[in-house]
Amino acid sequence: MKFNTKAIHHNAVHEKHVGSHVTPLYQTSTFVFESCAQGGDRFAGRDNGYKYTRLGNPNTKEVADRVAALDETDAGLYTSTGMSAVSTALLGLLKAGDHFIASDCLYGGTVSVINKVLTQYGIEMDYVKINDEAAFKAAFKPNTKLVYIETPANPTLELIDIPKVAEIAHAHGAVLVVDNTFMTPYLQKPMQLGADVAVYSVTKYINGHGDVVGGIITGKQAYIDRINSPHLLNLGGTGSPFDAWLVTRGLKTLGLRMDRHCENAMKVAEYLEANPNVERVYYPGLKSFEQHELAKTQMSGFGGMIAFEMKGGYQASEKLLDHLHLISLAVSLGGVDSLIQHPASMTHAAVPADEKLKAGITEGLVRISVGIEDIEDILEDLEKGFSHV
Ligand SMILES: Cc1ncc(COP(=O)(O)O)c(C=O)c1O
Repeated sequence: MKFNTKAIHHNAVHEKHVGSHVTPLYQTSTFVFESCAQGGDRFAGRDNGYKYTRLGNPNTKEVADRVAALDETDAGLYTSTGMSAVSTALLGLLKAGDHFIASDCLYGGTVSVINKVLTQYGIEMDYVKINDEAAFKAAFKPNTKLVYIETPANPTLELIDIPKVAEIAHAHGAVLVVDNTFMTPYLQKPMQLGADVAVYSVTKYINGHGDVVGGIITGKQAYIDRINSPHLLNLGGTGSPFDAWLVTRGLKTLGLRMDRHCENAMKVAEYLEANPNVERVYYPGLKSFEQHELAKTQMSGFGGMIAFEMKGGYQASEKLLDHLHLISLAVSLGGVDSLIQHPASMTHAAVPADEKLKAGITEGLVRISVGIEDIEDILEDLEKGFSHV
């Protein structure tokens, strides 16, 4: 099956009782056993029927399996939020005494969970500019067990060469985890490029309609098993069946939506590049983007996210952001509607100032998630906004 067919049909449950065509919503906390022996068999693992929604549910399983199939990897887990996917994956793959390397430009929530949680439990780490190959290789220690990257990175869109990093990580016995939220399996398949585990905030493109928070972890079976039990099941990061059901619905149009996001974002990037108020545009599809060639090798489209540097710093950014009407001033991304925000004071506010600077998150940096509205309307709104700068 090809991508769009799989996104609609893979593992769909055609329920037998009344013949529901679409997988029903199993909005239940628990499941009834036919006998005491059956309950015992389920808990002993001799019967893989459902027991209790925290431990498994048909809706959460359906969407996680489907995203894993789209990633062309072994297995998937559904989680309550993207941060639950990130934190549970890291807790499942690391233990006290281990060291890991993370790229120096990551979503602010991920930086917070590393700085405020993981490092409090005896896990050592270093942020490294992974594109500096010598610095990356020098960062490995005898106890380095994992490398964590985001590509494209939030918010600067900096790319990391997944096959190259996978080779170096594996040569040092480390697992490679990739946050693939910005790309989705439609545009980039981390495990096909050599990674071991991918994490997603499905709050973004995979659901795509801005009405759910959720996460998914996909990857090789052995790693998914380590993350699932005892971590996800005991820590309780499982997501709700209703949210998973909505994400399953959103996923069906992922390919169509991503094509339109890419098309619109290219036009917005070209518009911004020609705008005299803009110092620099970061969009992997632009020829002027430093890593444009790398983008073409590992991504099958350039995505819907753009960052740009305003000439007038924070003040000019504020003027623009306060005078948009169609494009909402809001964090989050990846929905059908366009959103714009100021990373330094919003999504990345919790990142310490020196780390922000190292990652290129300046006061003049603006991030836009280009939606799938008609491009003329998006450009008109930007043009009106810029007239106030
Ligand atoms: C790249 C990336 N990873 C993870 C997350 C966390 O996802 P959630 O907000 O669903 O917890 C976000 C949220 O913006 C993100 O942008």
